Amino acid sequence: MEDKIEIKLNVNGREYEVAVEPRRNLADTLRDDCHLTGTHVGCEHGVCGACTVLMDGKPIRACLMFAVQAESTKIETVEGLAAGEKLHPLQQAFWESHGLQCGFCTPGFLMLAKGALAENPDMSDEEILDVLSSNLCRCTGYQNIIKAVRAAADVMRRDVG
Ligand code: FES
Ligand code: FES
Repeated sequence: MEDKIEIKLNVNGREYEVAVEPRRNLADTLRDDCHLTGTHVGCEHGVCGACTVLMDGKPIRACLMFAVQAESTKIETVEGLAAGEKLHPLQQAFWESHGLQCGFCTPGFLMLAKGALAENPDMSDEEILDVLSSNLCRCTGYQNIIKAVRAAADVMRRDVG
């Protein structure tokens, strides 16, 4: 077994000190060492997007990144979305639009959409579709996920404006 390295991770504004093997990926580290199990692991090959988190505001596949690469960055996971009891507009919209069934893919879609809307709050339907096509959902048929992201974008634009 390789020696472990002590690293500090900033996740949802909180600092976590963990000891990881150099090859340990960020998704496993978040789940098993930081105990943030909201980030899901599906394919472990960068295909499904279930493990999507934000790194310095940009969506990344946490299964494709070593935890040591995440030092000195700001990571956001689904646990950081709600403000106490108040759901983030994306979470609220997924709920109201029935954008989830089993929910396995949902944390990844939420973080993907958050990153994309931060970059472009005025995405067209085609752009939303293009962004969301990078993640897989086996249950919903995608229509309600698209509807939820569109609805959340409207709310978030209104909140800012
Ligand atoms: S678990 Fe990371 S992309 Fe599927
Ligand atoms: S809601 Fe089940 S995989 Fe998307």
